[in-house]
Amino acid sequence: MYCYILLCAAAAFASYPPRSPWAAVEAYARRNYFYAGGQYVNTTQTAVNKTAEYMVGQVYVEQLIPFEARYEIPLVFIGGGAQTGTNWLNTPDGREGWASFFLRHGYTVYLAEQAQRGRSPWLPGEGEIIQFPVASIEQQFTAPQDYPSYPQAVNHTQWPGSGRKGDPIFDAFYKTQVPFQVDGMMQAVYNNLSFSALLDNIGPAIVITHSQAGMYGWQLGDARRDLVKAIVALEPAGPPFKGYSGPPFSPEWPPASDKRPFGLTPLPLQYTPPIGANASLLTQQNHTAPTPDLAPCTLQKEPARRLTNLSKIPVLMLTSQASYHTVYDYCTAEYLKQAGVDVEWVHLPDVGIFGNGHFIFMERNNLEIAEFVEPWIAGHARGR
Ligand SMILES: *[C@@H]1O[C@H](CO)[C@@H](O)[C@H](O)[C@H]1NC(C)=O
Ligand SMILES: *[C@@H]1O[C@H](CO)[C@@H](O)[C@H](O)[C@H]1NC(C)=O
Ligand SMILES: *[C@@H]1O[C@H](CO)[C@@H](O)[C@H](O)[C@H]1NC(C)=O
Ligand SMILES: *[C@@H]1O[C@H](CO)[C@@H](O)[C@H](O)[C@H]1NC(C)=O
Ligand SMILES: *[C@@H]1O[C@H](CO)[C@@H](O)[C@H](O)[C@H]1NC(C)=O
Ligand SMILES: *[C@@H]1O[C@H](CO)[C@@H](O)[C@H](O)[C@H]1NC(C)=O
Ligand SMILES: *[C@@H]1O[C@H](CO)[C@@H](O)[C@H](O)[C@H]1NC(C)=O
Repeated sequence: MYCYILLCAAAAFASYPPRSPWAAVEAYARRNYFYAGGQYVNTTQTAVNKTAEYMVGQVYVEQLIPFEARYEIPLVFIGGGAQTGTNWLNTPDGREGWASFFLRHGYTVYLAEQAQRGRSPWLPGEGEIIQFPVASIEQQFTAPQDYPSYPQAVNHTQWPGSGRKGDPIFDAFYKTQVPFQVDGMMQAVYNNLSFSALLDNIGPAIVITHSQAGMYGWQLGDARRDLVKAIVALEPAGPPFKGYSGPPFSPEWPPASDKRPFGLTPLPLQYTPPIGANASLLTQQNHTAPTPDLAPCTLQKEPARRLTNLSKIPVLMLTSQASYHTVYDYCTAEYLKQAGVDVEWVHLPDVGIFGNGHFIFMERNNLEIAEFVEPWIAGHARGR
């Protein structure tokens, strides 16, 4: 999928704006990469029983600068569980991805890989890394309509191809899935430190997260409120406080074990009145499912504490029609509102965008959704 920079530049000048499967690499003029964060530690690699000094937690970041920069504020993309920067470049069926789309629209783009994932090294012995099985990817992401394990799954139509093993587009997608840290706390700590270091290095940015990375977007906004100019959260990890797998999910839906004691994150967020690092000060209240095809969830008890720093950052949150997130994302949006965050939650079918699953930035209509989001981003990106 990649080509040498000179060749790409020649191809790009010949056919700009790009439309071919090479779009992902044709849309930029210059490319750079660097690592952000990382700490030296003395630890043991058990496989060789070698105790020595190593580095942990640093994250790989790829910077792509467009031919014609039209905005001052760059975009930082952070992919969700098992994903890397490649997912934003182009789609598994070789079309233009969101990073390429935004490059073509004049934005500088940073693709950041989470700590201990992809090109961000994992030091063996630092927790454990695991991989999503084929069947989980099919059931949750690419072919939920074939199972279906929640009512809205039947409407999933936008994945390119059958979404099942053996389909060349599924196979291409599955090859991009990489192992990820199973210890959520360790991952949160390293991501928080390294993504903060990234913004300290590059300055103000708009952060675009997907899924599990949603937690790290909130954490980053909390730690670097003056540098995060806006957050676009595509189906961020939810619902508030803890994962959910009860009805309307069917019994074969994987049990949820993820915990977000600070509402949106495993690590402390700044609230007013303050709670410090004591999550039990965040008083919870059960919220009944508004309709039978949605999940019950947990909100704060009123009067709710406000998210001190995050409430200063505009947020656009998107949820698709047929993803499992459609079951509970309403509650994540409600939690943000309750805590004073300036969030605009868009349920895609309400704006006439139908049939998407969880990978809304990769599916057949990914550019239609990018076109929908772009004006909001432009409004926060300081046009030149
Ligand atoms: C690791 O141990 C060595 C030898 O004791 C020491 O010089 C070094 O500062 C230690 N590094 C860290 C990060 O603690
Ligand atoms: C690892 O090395 C230490 C020190 O050389 C030794 O005491 C220990 O038995 C070794 N452990 C294993 C599992 O080989
Ligand atoms: C499927 O989509 C249609 C049209 O958007 C909608 O009316 C219907 O409620 C959806 N079905 C489910 C189970 O969500
Ligand atoms: C997150 O990282 C920032 C910047 O390095 C640090 O100041 C802050 O304490 C960290 N937050 C948590 C909850 O660890
Ligand atoms: C976040 O909020 C805390 C608590 O109000 C405050 O002390 C801190 O300065 C804020 N962080 C930033 C980056 O503004
Ligand atoms: C956390 O807050 C709870 C509820 O007010 C209190 O009982 C507990 O002692 C606090 N824990 C710490 C470590 O401050
Ligand atoms: C919320 O519901 C759970 C079980 O559904 C229950 O265990 C818990 O006590 C309830 N919490 C409150 C604050 O009502």
